[in-house]
Amino acid sequence: MASENSAAKTYYITTPIYYVNDRPHIGHTYTTTAADSMARYQRMRGRDVLFVTGTDEHAQKVVRAAQAAGLDPKAFADRVVTSYLDAWDRMKVSYDRFIRTSEEEHKQVVSRVFAQLLESGDIYKDRYEDWYCVPCETYLREQELLEGHLCPDCRREVERISEEAYFFRASAYSNELLREIEGAPERIRPDSRRNEVLSFIRQGLRDTCVSRANEGWGVPVPGDEEHVVYVWFDALINYLTVAGYSIDDGKFARVWPPNLQLMGKDIITRFHGSMWLAMLMALGVELPDLLFAHGWWVSAAGDKISKSRGNVVDPWAEAELLVEESGCTTDVAVDAVRYYMFREVTFGLDGSFSSEGLLSRFNADLANDLGNLLNRTLPLVERYLDGRIEQPGPGAGELEEQVLAAVSRAEQGYERMDMRGTLAGVWELLAAANKFVDERAPWDLYKQGKRVELAAVLYDVVDTIRIAALMIAPVMPTVAEEIWRQLGLEAMGLEMSWDDCQAGKLPAAAEVRRGRPIFPRIDLERARSRAAQAEQEPEAEEEEAMITIDEFQKIDLRIAQVLDADPVEGTDKLLVLSLDAGEGRPRQVVAGLAEEFSPRELIGETVVLVANLEPVTIRGVESQGMILAAGEEKPLALIVADRDVEPGEKVR
Ligand code: MSP
Repeated sequence: MASENSAAKTYYITTPIYYVNDRPHIGHTYTTTAADSMARYQRMRGRDVLFVTGTDEHAQKVVRAAQAAGLDPKAFADRVVTSYLDAWDRMKVSYDRFIRTSEEEHKQVVSRVFAQLLESGDIYKDRYEDWYCVPCETYLREQELLEGHLCPDCRREVERISEEAYFFRASAYSNELLREIEGAPERIRPDSRRNEVLSFIRQGLRDTCVSRANEGWGVPVPGDEEHVVYVWFDALINYLTVAGYSIDDGKFARVWPPNLQLMGKDIITRFHGSMWLAMLMALGVELPDLLFAHGWWVSAAGDKISKSRGNVVDPWAEAELLVEESGCTTDVAVDAVRYYMFREVTFGLDGSFSSEGLLSRFNADLANDLGNLLNRTLPLVERYLDGRIEQPGPGAGELEEQVLAAVSRAEQGYERMDMRGTLAGVWELLAAANKFVDERAPWDLYKQGKRVELAAVLYDVVDTIRIAALMIAPVMPTVAEEIWRQLGLEAMGLEMSWDDCQAGKLPAAAEVRRGRPIFPRIDLERARSRAAQAEQEPEAEEEEAMITIDEFQKIDLRIAQVLDADPVEGTDKLLVLSLDAGEGRPRQVVAGLAEEFSPRELIGETVVLVANLEPVTIRGVESQGMILAAGEEKPLALIVADRDVEPGEKVR
């Protein structure tokens, strides 16, 4: 492939950028940790890597979620972004750049790209009279809808749009794109997805709408502020922004094209496989080397796991379960979840996540095969060799053939996005090493005084563990590091490099340091009965989410009287309230009450104020707290005092 010929080319890996109306769950985590493993593997191969993830913020559904929360979209996005940053931190995602589409730099690139395509005639103005699915952020034609005006993807009701809009002339690129994809069998994978994209394009790409009426959130269309750029068009451009397109030509030349763009199968056909590639063609920019779409995590019932279906799997909660059941560290548990995701299902196919499956794999693969090999070998080195690896004499290298086979399989696996194959190969090697220990019985060699053979056997086993650690490091970085430490390699200042995946590279004199078992075994029976109990007693689960009285007392709730209420300009939902909270001067609070309550109804009410909430600016108005109302989606009833109480009185 073109980009691999030049040594100086940065290995550029992207994930989709995630909508901030949702919080990270297993789906997002899957894409992101897969990309992370690829990035780590490439770094171990000595390549300069740019691994990017981020957030997609200018969506209609973000505006709505923000309104429901009574916040300005930017303030809302700022809040949710932290949950992504936090999740990636905890899941050990080593991104090099986190992009937010609300960044100025990105908005400028979107603007420039749009202007360039307007100029070239690839974008033109017309009228859009059709449908739009807000949850999917997709324009749909009447004939694509399911009965009852439902979206064919998410089956929720679509909305009718009738407005002036800008269109991208995707139709002009149908044939060229078809030729490109047909001529490059490796550009879209797996094959099932490639075929899907091909048949979509064969029907002929239609010009797609790339703007929405400007409601104050998004990148304005250059020269026509009544419109903002369509969220997908805006979001796809992030891949250009981070590579330096129209910002830094030197960087762009080094980074472009992406070596690997990862995503789930739901966003390849319409978006990455056609719209994105057509956009690049229109811009005259080289196409990415590889678009790879993985499958979905589905529930036991076979539904896609998603927030809207209420069947979300939280990888962090799964890691916590492992900590609770096994007593391993949180970092090891995170690695175990990563291991499970990539070992359980062939990357590219659908799979169903099960906590029980995770616990069993933890025991069988991690505690038994890997942990056991380590825990039985290091004490032998301590006992028979004084804890120090010795340069082996003749007779060492007995596992070399198995090592070679596993390394070549691991390499192929990582290069082909087949992490399952990689891991299966490593586990075959671990099984071989365990068998080797059983057969060569170092304890017997010791008893028989066969010192040279003993040193050679132990060298081979420890060397194999070293190589296994290198091979699993992209998927399980913490575990690999811990093994590295226990083998005494960290103390010798040795970095993990893929080139060292060769038998015989274990340095003599490495001093092993046995630690606590990395994977304490789980009592599966006990775990099962606890899970069954939790299912029968949902209250028990709720108890876990409880807060202490101290935590509750951190929230400063006060009685406040509404002195005044005015609509916030430019919105139908927000009111700015002036409150007497007994502080000598009024407090200003912005609340999403306007659709259900008139200012007249509110003035004079005695409400409950969250008085120590950090101030935020909503639609340019500072909000110094929040008032309490019942209702999740929209405010149904205000929480008011049923007798006279002085403003400022504490609520407890
Ligand atoms: N914002 C767009 C992407 C724009 S990229 C220029 C988007 N965001 S998203 O927040 O919906 O995240 C989607 C990613 O998470 C996709 O790769 C999707 O396939 C993945 N998953 C979401 N749920 C999933 C599962 N249940 N299983 C596996 N991955 C799925 O789309």
